[in-house]
Amino acid sequence: MESTIKAPRGTRDVLGDESWKWTHVLNVCRDVAGDFGYSEVLLPIFEHTELFSRGIGDTTDVVEKEMYTFIDKGDRSITLRPELTASMVRSYLEHDMKRAPQPVKLWSAGPMFRYERPQKGRYRQFWQIDFEILGAQSPMADLETIDTSMEIYRRLGLTNLQVLINSVGCPNCRHAYRDALKRFLESGPGLDALCETCQGRFERNPLRILDCKKPACREATEDAPAIWDSLCDECRSHFEDVNRGLSRIGADVKLDKRLVRGLDYYTKTAYEILAGELGAQNAVCGGGRYDNLAEAIGGPHVPGVGFASGIERIVITLEGQGVFLGEKPKTEVYVVTASSDFAIEASALAHELRASKLSAGTDYAGRGMKAQMKQAAASGADFVCIIGEDEAASGTVSVKNMSNGEQRSIPRNEAAAKLVLWREERNR
Ligand code: HAM
Repeated sequence: MESTIKAPRGTRDVLGDESWKWTHVLNVCRDVAGDFGYSEVLLPIFEHTELFSRGIGDTTDVVEKEMYTFIDKGDRSITLRPELTASMVRSYLEHDMKRAPQPVKLWSAGPMFRYERPQKGRYRQFWQIDFEILGAQSPMADLETIDTSMEIYRRLGLTNLQVLINSVGCPNCRHAYRDALKRFLESGPGLDALCETCQGRFERNPLRILDCKKPACREATEDAPAIWDSLCDECRSHFEDVNRGLSRIGADVKLDKRLVRGLDYYTKTAYEILAGELGAQNAVCGGGRYDNLAEAIGGPHVPGVGFASGIERIVITLEGQGVFLGEKPKTEVYVVTASSDFAIEASALAHELRASKLSAGTDYAGRGMKAQMKQAAASGADFVCIIGEDEAASGTVSVKNMSNGEQRSIPRNEAAAKLVLWREERNR
């Protein structure tokens, strides 16, 4: 016999005992988005490959190694989106949002795809929430994006988060810094001290060497010059303003000269938010400014800043911190029949209960009453409605309160209203 087909490596089924937590996270995002004035957009899951190779950068791991790219039947190179920022900017340009009052604030959520080595908190298909402010140059916009993400985490009940922040400068000052870093590496530790990947990065993308996690590379770059010393006046004052603002919003912030991020579009501010509960994959959020991204994909100059946060990682952190999210939604009322003769009546009652916004279930397997009661208990129902000969004859329903075992008979036509009332009393 052929083996049964499993979900592909790096993907996972989010089942009923977890998916409600996702809904909760998304509801909180929606609330925060409303309070901060972001409008929700729903963008394609696949885009032209060029959007990412030009937007994210040809020499990044994401573009070089991690994209799900294929040629479609019309001979176009298509890529499953590895992130949302490039698509957000594409959409802004395509719909001429530059004509709208600036800035334009957009948010979205959905699955992303990266061919990475799966481990806890790292998947090949994962969900991001993504928030972007387009058309704002002010450092206060950078600050607002950090505030937005921290507000989401605060409303979710997450604590102990640390914001790491850096500036990666603009092309002008970054150029000077690249040279300084290369000089340091050549004259100090020497290229042989670096791992093979970083030796390859030396010419193409030397800043990435700073955030290599290999001990040898970390040691070699320990005393590397900080980019702060190479920032031009504009980038420096921008960075200082963001930091001054951050000190006012009460976040735990650390300057991190190694933080360069894995996507090439960043200019000036770059940040990550870390949660200890995540282990090696400890970033719950990553973001920053990308003033040249719109031009890189063929548009006019549009400054932008934003962040994305992984929902799987948010949920792992919520669970790791033991945050109480409320109870898993469950069946509130289970309708039991004395025999299958009353199946239609049971369906009709369940229909009425649902129309009154009570969650209701009933048996479809022709089980005996005892087995139905067991089902009712297993479903976690607070109340069981019983329909048998007597009830049908007298136009009543017997209702059993599952928490105290009490049973009473009520008129059939009052069942929904009474149960709504009892649920309210129970939840009080
Ligand atoms: P990123 O740092 O690549 O940034 O991803 C942002 C967040 O997505 C990470 O902090 C993490 O929570 C989650 N994430 C990334 N990769 C995975 C994975 N393989 N499995 C599970 N979760 C993952 C971006 O994507 C930028 N577009 C963020 C941004 C928005 N910058 C400006 N605007």
